[in-house]
Amino acid sequence: MRKKLFLLILSCLTTLGLSAQGRWFNDKDLTLTGVYYYPEHWDESEWDRDFKKMHDLGFEFTHFAEFAWAQLEPEEGKYDFAWLDKAVGLAAKYNLKVVMCTSTATPPVWLSRRYPEILIKEEDGTILDHGARQHASFASPLYRKLAYRMIEKLAEHYGNDSRIIGWQLDNEPAVQFDYNDSAEKAFREFLKKKYVNIKALNDAWGTAFWSEVYSSFDEITLPKRKQMFMNHHQILDYRRFAAAQTNDFLNEQSLLIKRYAKNQWVTTNYIPNYEEGHIGGSKSLDFQSYTRYMVYGDNEGIGRRGYRVGNPLRIAFANDFFRPVQGTYGVMELQPGQVNWGSINPQPLPGAVRLWLWSVFAGGSDFVCTYRFRQPLYGTEQYHYGIIGPDGVTVTPGGYEYSQFVNDIKELRKHYKPRQLMPKEYLARRTAILFNHENSWSIERQKQNATWNTLGHVEKYYKALKSFGAPVDFITEDKDFSAYPFMIAPAYQLADDELVSKWIKYVENGGNLILTCRTAQKDRFGRLPKAKFGAMLNRLTGNELDFYDLLLPNDPGKVVMDNKVYKWNTWGEIIKPAQQATVLAKYTDEFYEGAPAVTTRDLGKGSITYVGVDSQDGALEMDILKKIYPKNNVQILDLPFGVTMEYRNGLGIVLNYSDKPYQFDLPKEAKVLIGKPLIETAGVLVFSIAK
Ligand code: GAL
Repeated sequence: MRKKLFLLILSCLTTLGLSAQGRWFNDKDLTLTGVYYYPEHWDESEWDRDFKKMHDLGFEFTHFAEFAWAQLEPEEGKYDFAWLDKAVGLAAKYNLKVVMCTSTATPPVWLSRRYPEILIKEEDGTILDHGARQHASFASPLYRKLAYRMIEKLAEHYGNDSRIIGWQLDNEPAVQFDYNDSAEKAFREFLKKKYVNIKALNDAWGTAFWSEVYSSFDEITLPKRKQMFMNHHQILDYRRFAAAQTNDFLNEQSLLIKRYAKNQWVTTNYIPNYEEGHIGGSKSLDFQSYTRYMVYGDNEGIGRRGYRVGNPLRIAFANDFFRPVQGTYGVMELQPGQVNWGSINPQPLPGAVRLWLWSVFAGGSDFVCTYRFRQPLYGTEQYHYGIIGPDGVTVTPGGYEYSQFVNDIKELRKHYKPRQLMPKEYLARRTAILFNHENSWSIERQKQNATWNTLGHVEKYYKALKSFGAPVDFITEDKDFSAYPFMIAPAYQLADDELVSKWIKYVENGGNLILTCRTAQKDRFGRLPKAKFGAMLNRLTGNELDFYDLLLPNDPGKVVMDNKVYKWNTWGEIIKPAQQATVLAKYTDEFYEGAPAVTTRDLGKGSITYVGVDSQDGALEMDILKKIYPKNNVQILDLPFGVTMEYRNGLGIVLNYSDKPYQFDLPKEAKVLIGKPLIETAGVLVFSIAK
């Protein structure tokens, strides 16, 4: 019976695309732990000592050459890898594998001086300069050529070296809003390719409005984002273009490396800026990785000391966003202690660094790495903590927490089980959140209510799901919806009939779909369809949308569900429900008092719930979901905010970010491996579920 269940689970997860994990990482390792080292910052005589210390603390890999272009190619066309060879050799002496980087975030000065046209130009005309980092334009063909020439040399040199496990491209590559001439030319080419003739572009952008009409592609410039009334259809295409520049640059780097790389993976280290739109866009990466910093001055945590612990869902969200792209993920940077760039840079609470490490692990990651081994003595990041302090030998508190984590993982390896082994009640709660950054681009440009927050709206649902102990995947439209018993598409504004048909099929086949306000109200160009407002969804929900209203934040409206009152102000849709629909919540004031705000109905073997309102504090979203899961015979947990629970490798991991101890109710047959069921603030409990 158990075996059957396990095979079933395995087959489900294979359909979710978990193959990347098996290709590059071994289940039996659980996770690998590494640390950044910049050999070029230190006297060569100290390298051996440093790698030995890294090894003694338990680290398994290190990370080189991230910003070292000036050292790798000191003069144009003259390469020097001797120093790096020495560092790779010494790391290997201490059993440390290496992640090699492409250093394209820091071109050497000879490059910027000889070819100043590669520098980024800002919207106000400022040209970025040498002396910092990330000042080169990804849209510049010349920059790409010079970068690829250096990368090819590096890949030729290290591609067949078994000491190198993989590659990180660039550093935290972002979408550039670059007004360099090359970017403008590239934008025109992008539009020509997309629209072929100018009439099609004029239609898509609605340029009949305000005499904006173009007669040729050559008249088009990069939209000035500062101009408040700039055509937002154009901005939508501009953002698509800008994201594509970053994606293409990374993709081309990756393909180049893969010509030489033998059994080495390629990834990059994205900042989890979900709405930027580039994460997952470079198709030839082997998996996605992210960087995450948890305490930097904002008190997004719980209670007075929350600013030392961080937002309880910050890592979980990133895990659930990055993992589904290709089935596995890694974390390239995780804070080891104080940072240097926050508004206030406090010490993390003792135990917090370890808590974050387990948070990364809980999401199913294959590695975690930290920035950086030694605190720098000079440069922009002097105040940044490392695993080792400024004397080069003293281990920091965060350094000890890393060491404890690695050693705990090494111990746990004795208990490893396949990654997919998870309890069936956990898998039954599996939920997809359908996400497309273009919805944020579009909505944020035409918010209608300054207090609306697109990502904040998504987070209300996410927070509820995590309190249920539900495994969540953020997915894109191309994924197989049927792998998920529940799917939420929050404020999914840009849509078409094809997507609506895909949703209908999903529901008819047994899926439980939750759509929320602002969904499918525009086409993919950001235009309103020539139909009643919101009518694209009629054949799915059966509802009609009468109108929507927006209120002042300090004078919110109310909706009532099961006699409980909820406040709202950012967006409320007044619904004419389908005859077969059950009204779950109604407005209780204004001239539409008594009108439906939330409806649900069965369709085929599944159900469609429509939430036409965005509550102020997320309580309504939570309570709606609390009705839907049990109605489908799916048990949910009721974890307090700050406590999360996930499973991987036959292990349950419970984390406490809250300011009070939490008593976790262990499942039957569970065996505690780390911690205790009474989990203190910043505490971790790990138990095994399989016999
Ligand atoms: C990251 C960056 C690292 C380092 C770190 C400092 O955003 O990728 O290179 O600057 O911040 O906290």
